[in-house]
Amino acid sequence: MSAPNNPYDPVRVAALDPATLDAAVAAADAAFAAAQDLEALKAARLAHLDRGQVAQARREIGALPPAAKAEAGKRVGAALAAVQAAYSAREAELVAHRDAQILVQERVDVSVPAARRPLGARHPVELTMERLVDVFVAMGWEVAEGPEVESEWMNFDALNLGVDHPARQMQDTFFVDPPDGGLVLRAHTSPVQIRTMLTRTPPIYVVAPGKVFRTDDLDATHTPVFHQIECLAVDKGLTMAHLRGSIDHFVRAMFGDVRTRVRASYFPFTEPSMETDFQCFVCRGGDEACRMCGGSGWIELGGSGMVNRKVLQACGIDPDVYTGFAFGFGIERALQLRNGVSDMRDIVEGDVRFSGQFGMAV
Ligand code: DAH
Repeated sequence: MSAPNNPYDPVRVAALDPATLDAAVAAADAAFAAAQDLEALKAARLAHLDRGQVAQARREIGALPPAAKAEAGKRVGAALAAVQAAYSAREAELVAHRDAQILVQERVDVSVPAARRPLGARHPVELTMERLVDVFVAMGWEVAEGPEVESEWMNFDALNLGVDHPARQMQDTFFVDPPDGGLVLRAHTSPVQIRTMLTRTPPIYVVAPGKVFRTDDLDATHTPVFHQIECLAVDKGLTMAHLRGSIDHFVRAMFGDVRTRVRASYFPFTEPSMETDFQCFVCRGGDEACRMCGGSGWIELGGSGMVNRKVLQACGIDPDVYTGFAFGFGIERALQLRNGVSDMRDIVEGDVRFSGQFGMAV
C-alpha cells in the first residue's frame, strides 16, 4: 500500500502561511505609516503592494490544487485588500498634507499693494505736433520729412540765403565737422520745402514737422533743440488769399474761434513775406492786463509768404506757371501758448511728471 496521500495544505506553503501573511500586512502598514511624503509612499507601495510577500502569495495560489484555491484566495485577497486599504488611507493623508502645504507656500495676499511701475507718458511736444499735423492731414495735405543733418545748400542756398546774404546770420547754426564740409544741423524745417519740390511735381500740399537746432543756451525762453512745423503749397493760381485762409483754418482748429492779422515782414525764401498774429484766445483784446498777450490782444504765430520765384526756380518749378505759399512756426511756442507752459526747461528736461500732466500715458 502506498502511504496515505498527504493532502496538500495551503497553510503550509511558505508565502501563504497566515502568520506570514499577517506579518506582511503589518509590515506594509508600518512602511506606509512611516512614509513621510508621496515619494516615500510610492517606494513603500512598490515593496509591499506591487512586489511584496502578499503579491507573491497571490501568484502561488495558481499552483494550488483546485480544492485549496478558494480558501487560500480568500485569505490572500483579504490580506491584499488590507494592504491596499492601508495604502489608500495613507495616500489620502499625504495628498491632503501636500495640498495644505501648497496652500500655505503659494499663498497670495491680494491685499498687498502692487508694485507700480510708472508707465511713462508721451511727450507733449510730440502730441502738439500730431495735433497740428492732423489739422492739415484732415484738409488732404501730406506729411513730408527731411534729415536733421542737412546740407548747407538745402538749409540756406536753395532757400535764397546766399553765402553773403545777411539773413544767413539770422540763424545761429551748428556746423557739422569739418566746418567746411557743407553739412549743418538744420536750423529750420524750411529745407524740407526744397526736398519736397525737388522730388514731387505740383500740385504739392505738404506739412513737415520736425526737430531744428540753433546755438542758443537753454533758459526759460530758449532751447538749442526745438521743433517747427513747415507748410508748403505749390499749385496753379495760388494767392495770398489761400495762404490767409489756410492759416485762419489752422489757427481756429488750434485756438478756437479767433481772428488773424498779417504784418509785412521779410524772409529770403518768400516774396512777399509776412508775420501772422492771431487774436488772443484768452482776452480777445478786451483786457489790458492779460498775461497771455501782454494786453495787446494779439499773439505772434510765425512767418509766412508766397514762395520766392528764385526758390521755385532752384527746384525746377516754373514760377510763371505755378505759385506757392509757405509758413512755418514753432511747436514749443504753440504748446506754451495753448497749455500755459511758461518755462521752456520743463519742456526739454523730459521729466515724466511734466509729460504726465498732459494726460497721455503710453
Ligand atoms: N524758417 C523760418 C524760421 O525758422 C520760418 C518761416 C518763415 C517758414 C516764413 C516759412 C516761411 O515757410 O514762409 O524762422
